[in-house]
Amino acid sequence: MARFTLPRDIYHGKGALEALKDFKGKKAMICVGGGSMKRFGFLDKAESYLKEAGMEVEIFDGIEPDPSVETVMKGADAMLKFEPDWIVAIGGGSPIDAAKAMWIKYEYPDCTFEDMCKVFGIPELRKKAHFCAVSSTSGTATEVTAFSIITDYSKGIKYPIADFEITPDVAIVDPELAETMPKKLVAHTGMDAMTHAVEAYVSTANSDYTDPLAIHAIEMIRNDLVASYNGDMAARDRMHNAQCLAGMAFSNALLGIVHSMAHKTGAAFADYGAHIIHGAANAMYLPKVIAFNAKDETAKKRYGVIVDYMGIADENASDDDKVSALIAYLRKMNDDLNIPHGIGTYGADSYPTEKGFVPEEVFLERLHDIAVNAIADACTGSNPRQPSVEEMEKLLKCCYYDTEVDF
Ligand SMILES: NC(=O)c1ccc[n+]([C@@H]2O[C@H](COP(=O)([O-])OP(=O)(O)OC[C@H]3O[C@@H](n4cnc5c(N)ncnc54)[C@H](O)[C@@H]3O)[C@@H](O)[C@H]2O)c1
Ligand SMILES: [Zn+2]
Repeated sequence: MARFTLPRDIYHGKGALEALKDFKGKKAMICVGGGSMKRFGFLDKAESYLKEAGMEVEIFDGIEPDPSVETVMKGADAMLKFEPDWIVAIGGGSPIDAAKAMWIKYEYPDCTFEDMCKVFGIPELRKKAHFCAVSSTSGTATEVTAFSIITDYSKGIKYPIADFEITPDVAIVDPELAETMPKKLVAHTGMDAMTHAVEAYVSTANSDYTDPLAIHAIEMIRNDLVASYNGDMAARDRMHNAQCLAGMAFSNALLGIVHSMAHKTGAAFADYGAHIIHGAANAMYLPKVIAFNAKDETAKKRYGVIVDYMGIADENASDDDKVSALIAYLRKMNDDLNIPHGIGTYGADSYPTEKGFVPEEVFLERLHDIAVNAIADACTGSNPRQPSVEEMEKLLKCCYYDTEVDF
């Protein structure tokens, strides 16, 4: 038996934020990040719409990018004091993910972070509050997914919390919020969305329900991401939908080892000033993982179908040639979006540079542990080809040196 779960309502299109005016409840806690939503007026709008709906509103702000366990616990304390019956998270993946974890702790104050990380082990929520997510970036799609990614900085590891219990009740996908994104954020979140769609399509948990969403998202992202990056606002608006479709696919089809590797390298070199941004990590690793997975016949055929839909190779070409075309196309997208091809050249502001943040000897010293952690990541199980620790180390090396994957 398989399950396909999405939010009950998805409001989309310009002005969708106004849906908050019709919410029924007494108290809403808005969870938000460091200031962009305030600066661009979306926080004030959300607050006034909820007040128009007759609700008392409190704001929990300051949720940092890649939120920590500590922030989750602080937010849950604030919820326990205020007792909201609606949690409304506005912003990128970070504040929405943090709010999801706060929600668990609010409903079950005795639940520890370790308890939350048990995959599909969250007890029944919605006894105290319902959850609405309003996304302002076009990538994570956390507004529709069963996931939340929280970082344990004491270990330098990102942990995915995964359970359909944390799939929001309501998602608001209003492209006006995404129009204020700076270019770099467009690039990173857009390649995150591309990775979600590709990994979902070749995942071992793919299904007739998720395939159309993944394929359509891939076609849209191929058509619109670079244009959106270059300032085309109609393309930016479409990307907001495309990333959401990719999210609906991967929330139900799960992901693969691109995400396992991104989760385990993201904070692993933070002490060297190299915080490897989630979307950039995915963009760098995706072509390598495609080459690795294509050794699996079923995955190779599925990459071929992706290529046919993208229209980037002759339909009569061999599957091997189609895989090569896909890898070349994604690398070209990275170039167009100013994203490096490997950790070794990942420099300041995530731009490509000759010598990146992470020194070779530090990478090699930490390689084994990262490989072990990546294999243990919740996203590894649904990858079409299961890597050994040795293969994962080799793959990560290819991602550092930007060398070809031929094993
Ligand atoms: N839950 C999931 O299913 C899922 C999936 C993929 C990634 N993630 C996680 O999500 C996090 C990344 O989220 P993200 O990429 O959306 O970025 P983010 O939420 O970390 O935001 C990055 C920065 O962009 C700013 N920002 C956000 N929206 C803006 C806008 N519209 N205009 C201007 N500035 C804006 C924020 O203030 C912040 O400084 C990571 O922790 C990642 O691991 C979660
Ligand atoms: Zn992602």
